[in-house]
Amino acid sequence: MAIYTGSNKQLGGTETVSKKEMFYYGLIQKNVLVTGANGQLGQEMKARAEITNTPFRFFFTDVDHLDITDKKQLEYFVERNSIEYIINCAAYTAVDKAEEDVDTAYLINYEAVKSIAEVSSSHGVKIIHISTDYVFDGAASTPYKETDSCNPLSVYGKSKLKGEESIANIAHGWMIIRTSWLFSKYGANFVKTMLNLMSSREELNIVADQRGTPTYAADLAEMIFVILNEAEWYSGIYHFSNSGETTWYDFAGKIQKLAGLSSCKLNRITTAEYKTAAQRPMYSVFDKSKIENKYHVTIPTWENALNRMLAADR
Ligand SMILES: NC(=O)c1ccc[n+]([C@@H]2O[C@H](COP(=O)([O-])OP(=O)(O)OC[C@H]3O[C@@H](n4cnc5c(N)ncnc54)[C@H](OP(=O)(O)O)[C@@H]3O)[C@@H](O)[C@H]2O)c1
Repeated sequence: MAIYTGSNKQLGGTETVSKKEMFYYGLIQKNVLVTGANGQLGQEMKARAEITNTPFRFFFTDVDHLDITDKKQLEYFVERNSIEYIINCAAYTAVDKAEEDVDTAYLINYEAVKSIAEVSSSHGVKIIHISTDYVFDGAASTPYKETDSCNPLSVYGKSKLKGEESIANIAHGWMIIRTSWLFSKYGANFVKTMLNLMSSREELNIVADQRGTPTYAADLAEMIFVILNEAEWYSGIYHFSNSGETTWYDFAGKIQKLAGLSSCKLNRITTAEYKTAAQRPMYSVFDKSKIENKYHVTIPTWENALNRMLAADR
């Protein structure tokens, strides 16, 4: 992991810290708890930790090991392991199911997050909490800034916004990173679904009127490492996705082209033609200038990121 030396760091690499940097880091090792570590982002965090020499000792946990809805367990874990940072990758992410399973969505995305914020406050732990573009209603036509007002349309989006508010109001030192359209070689996501369906179906209908930006979870994990390695801590909300913008239809077209699955015909459909339980924002492109300027990073395009993900073992 490169430290800022005067020019922007280009994300999307596999650079590691030098032995000299590690010598100094060895004197200041810090303990970091990663929750939800079996999810897409959590697994990318693990993968990044394996290829990066850092001054951090990571504790990767998921619900079977550390259930974030159990505040006592959380407190005990933080005390016992002298945790200084929590990266909260745990979430209830079944967007459509949340419309019915409201209590569970709020339990994990709000109440548990509030407990994390309280533990942060009582134990002086810094938090990087991950949130979503679904806190916006999608009525905008220019990229969303962190200061734009939220108006979630779904139970998932509402529960995530309540989680954000508790972090911002209670936590000791906090960052909320909103991201969108996550994909990775891990877990279930649009890219993997498309690869499966394109290999088995003759045609597919894909929504062509929602605009947003895909985010390679590996690039977000790298961004989190950049933040951890930064000497200064800048609390606040940040937007992070890959750069550029697209529709689900064009995203599918690019996946098809790069994967060479041309025999499947892709049809454009509208959101109105594709009924889902939860309403999604029609437009959720982020303005990422805050995180780029604060951390001196250059974020790769979503096409570049997709290329790298498809080149990695699936
Ligand atoms: N996926 C997207 O497209 C997307 C888009 C925008 C923002 N985000 C946000 O990005 C973050 C990471 O998303 P992701 O795609 O990596 O999610 P994910 O793959 O669904 O991973 C979430 C992980 O959290 C675990 N978890 C659930 N309840 C838990 C609990 N009570 N205690 C501890 N762990 C628990 C899940 O376990 P189980 O699988 O066993 O439930 C899962 O391993 C989330 O905050 C999400 O809201 C995601």
